[in-house]
Amino acid sequence: MKEGMIVSLDTVVKTFFMGENEVHALRGVSFDIPEGSFVSIMGPSGSGKTTCMNMIGCLDRPTSGAIYIAGENTAEMSDNDLAFLRNRTIGFVFQQYFLLPTLTILENVMLPLRYQGIPALERKKLAAEELEKVGLSNRLKHRPSELSGGQKQRVAIARALVTRPQLILADEPTGALDSETGQSVLDLFFDINRQGTAVIIVTHDPDIGATAPRSIHLKDGNIISDTIHPSPAPPG
Ligand SMILES: Nc1ncnc2c1ncn2[C@@H]1O[C@H](COP(=O)(O)OP(=O)(O)OP(=O)(O)O)[C@@H](O)[C@H]1O
Ligand SMILES: [Mg+2]
Repeated sequence: MKEGMIVSLDTVVKTFFMGENEVHALRGVSFDIPEGSFVSIMGPSGSGKTTCMNMIGCLDRPTSGAIYIAGENTAEMSDNDLAFLRNRTIGFVFQQYFLLPTLTILENVMLPLRYQGIPALERKKLAAEELEKVGLSNRLKHRPSELSGGQKQRVAIARALVTRPQLILADEPTGALDSETGQSVLDLFFDINRQGTAVIIVTHDPDIGATAPRSIHLKDGNIISDTIHPSPAPPG
């Protein structure tokens, strides 16, 4: 295990077997991500970005190689222990939001707390606080269908943050948004990061990639560059 790393990947290979065919999604990827980092993962479509995020997020297991999350070797953990580690440590944000349409936005954000056995009143309070931080206090009783794309993504971010994870994984979180709304969502990720949460963001957008203090580029399942930008990203 490596001190101070929220994520370490050591020669991670992921091969999908599709009948006769093998798809080499990751061909031996290694990197260490210190606690509190901000990292963008970039690369063309099909280069392995989502697969890499799924590995980091323990949503799937590698074909070979080792993945450490907050110092724990995930290979040695049962599926249950892995789910527990994931719920405790990681918040997810996706391009398509994945909000539950029948619940209000307050209820959507309360949901992850239910699995932590937090009483309803406390869940409500924590969810409302998180929605206030993303500027949606005036929408608590709305359903997702009544919100704009940017607002929906803010709800998804509040939902990811409400459990106070050490790491946020965001796969193309601005992909469905216009550039201005996308920038405001991105600013939110920088705010979150300034408060100490590590953020790993997958993006096609070279501007976003360039604002991140560190960028990892994937191509055909390999890392082709891992660059630390000299000055930290300016806020907003
Ligand atoms: N469940 C799966 N079964 C089979 N092949 C898969 C599976 N998931 C991904 N792949 C393949 O693995 C490769 C990497 O896919 P991945 O989704 O990681 O790419 P990506 O970089 O996220 O692309 P995009 O930018 O289009 O989202 C692709 O060739 C893809 O077809
Ligand atoms: Mg993808």
